[in-house]
Amino acid sequence: MWIYNMKLLKRTVLEISVRYYKPRRAILYVPGNDLKKINKIQSLTIDCVALDCEDGVALNKKDEARYTIRESLNRLIPDIKNKTDIGVRINSVDSEICEKDLEVCLSGNYLPHTILLPKVEDSGQLHWFSDCIDKYIKQRDKINLIIFLESAKAFINISEICKTLVTLADKQKIIPNSLVFGSDDYCASIGATRTEDATEVLYARQKLVLYAKAYNFQAIDMVYIKFKDLEGLVRQSEQGRHMGFTGKQVIHPDQIEVVQKSFSPSLVQVEWAKGLLRAFEEHQIKGIGAFTYEGSMIDMPTIKQAQNIIELMNSIK
Ligand code: COA
Ligand code: MG
Repeated sequence: MWIYNMKLLKRTVLEISVRYYKPRRAILYVPGNDLKKINKIQSLTIDCVALDCEDGVALNKKDEARYTIRESLNRLIPDIKNKTDIGVRINSVDSEICEKDLEVCLSGNYLPHTILLPKVEDSGQLHWFSDCIDKYIKQRDKINLIIFLESAKAFINISEICKTLVTLADKQKIIPNSLVFGSDDYCASIGATRTEDATEVLYARQKLVLYAKAYNFQAIDMVYIKFKDLEGLVRQSEQGRHMGFTGKQVIHPDQIEVVQKSFSPSLVQVEWAKGLLRAFEEHQIKGIGAFTYEGSMIDMPTIKQAQNIIELMNSIK
């Protein structure tokens, strides 16, 4: 009876609530030319890694990074058993070395699961990128795409960018699934100074979350660069989750667990959500819409929040 009613509830509630799929609670950067760090990946419990060709790699090490990544994919992908999403962060379309990254990184025996494309600023870049992917991916239909918004221009064009992603997903070989906020490039772009409470990036973070939800993408929050300060990381992760982000970028293995915990529902939340959904069912049968649960008035918006908690819990099991 409970299971049957949950199905009914899903039909009524889930159609309009946030759809969660394999969440990337933490995305770990690993410099593409650093074999020692790449070899560490298999020992980590991480949702997604970004083997980096971009800003974590010095200019004179780009080529070394590309070839190291290609070789590493051949070892990592068959071994990873779906545990971790193995991605490659290439250089931006504007950099003029983006195609070289794709040419090398996509020419091994195994493709990455995901490409991370930084510094997206307009739809023209996405069309160019998508055509490029068509050129280098022959052996399989589609590849996941995570894009970065990290400049004033990107945030002015965010609507057009999201619409283009949806169009490309329908027609081309890419499956866009996340928007990432690149805070430090964004601050450089608008001339802001980074502060601990991050008020200077509040508008951009909220805007990214808004568009991610509207277009059904995951919203990935900024990096906390003081990787030894785990208390600060907890604070910033919780702040991001409360704003609606579903994950966060990390740079060091010590940050993974903190971030994963922050972006997972707690036991208390899960118990609350289960109890509330049971109470909702009982009241629905009696024909009552709004009711009281643990001292608060409950109607559909709170039911949707409870449903999101259960969905998220199921998706990260
Ligand atoms: N991925 C995988 N392993 C990592 C890692 C990462 N990003 N960062 C550190 N490690 C490993 C180290 O190799 C070391 O392994 P060991 O115990 O087997 O020797 C262990 O974790 C502890 O590392 P630690 O000594 O504390 O740090 P470090 O001085 O080696 O590295 C950084 C510090 C910041 C340079 C490093 O974490 C790093 O390169 N991060 C990614 C930076 C990046 O890509 N930036 C661009 C995107 S914002
Ligand atoms: Mg950046």
